[in-house]
Amino acid sequence: MTRQKILITGASSGLGAGMARSFAAKGRDLALCARRTERLDELKAELSQQYPGITVAVAALDVNDHEQVPKVFGELSDELGCLDRVIVNAGIGKGARLGSGKVWANKATLETNLVAALVQIETALEMFAKSGSGHLVLISSVLGARGVPGVKASYAASKAGMRSLGESLRAEYRRGPIKVSVIEPGYIESEMTARSNSTLFMVDNATGVKALVDAIEREPGRAAVPWWPWAPLVQLMRILPPPLTKFFA
Ligand SMILES: NC(=O)c1ccc[n+]([C@@H]2O[C@H](COP(=O)([O-])OP(=O)(O)OC[C@H]3O[C@@H](n4cnc5c(N)ncnc54)[C@H](OP(=O)(O)O)[C@@H]3O)[C@@H](O)[C@H]2O)c1
Repeated sequence: MTRQKILITGASSGLGAGMARSFAAKGRDLALCARRTERLDELKAELSQQYPGITVAVAALDVNDHEQVPKVFGELSDELGCLDRVIVNAGIGKGARLGSGKVWANKATLETNLVAALVQIETALEMFAKSGSGHLVLISSVLGARGVPGVKASYAASKAGMRSLGESLRAEYRRGPIKVSVIEPGYIESEMTARSNSTLFMVDNATGVKALVDAIEREPGRAAVPWWPWAPLVQLMRILPPPLTKFFA
């Protein structure tokens, strides 16, 4: 089944913008949102020029403004006619070692990556329930597999929470009509990874986005991307003694 009308949150940079370019190249119509609207306008101009046959709708959205999420999703859906796939991608990588006194950083990450993701999930499910079908994609992380020491503890918790919500939904909708995929990227070049010290098996944006989009199109229950080396490494992470998880963070 081709999911023609795709909404992506956090589409102004990194994986979100990369996925938008990749789906546009496949002829899909796009609804793109983020806070930096000038980036979205530039992306819309680029895609509309390159692929004149597709529709690209853009909107300002801070996912932490919970009342705005259903409003903006609804407006974008109206502009495209409906939504066949929603990719919950907006996220941040702020964080501090637990107990270091910077609760604001850890709280911000859990609020954006998990609480705001929940609001996007609830909104997408309501829309899909009305239209009768849809594909919900949750961009988690390989770090959702295990708790890690240091500055990424709350980030890992936020992504584990997302993975858990995805698992619950897969049980909830095991007979359809809504499909749910949890995608767990390894390290892929983006603005987020540019601000981080972790480069473990890092791939460039184009390689990572291709793996991401190929996985999304297969509509798996869950997938680590790129498959190599991350699918086996995620299995390894689950059984490692806690102190050794630091090598992945
Ligand atoms: N790159 C990786 O290696 C990697 C690995 C695993 C998982 N991920 C996940 O992939 C997703 C995308 O990250 P990225 O690597 O592409 O980072 P990025 O380049 O920093 O992009 C993050 C995107 O999220 C948006 N965003 C952040 N806070 C937002 C808010 N409050 N409201 C709306 N949009 C918001 C940003 O847009 P504005 O600032 O314009 O709002 C931006 O478009 C994240 O969920 C991240 O956790 C990335």
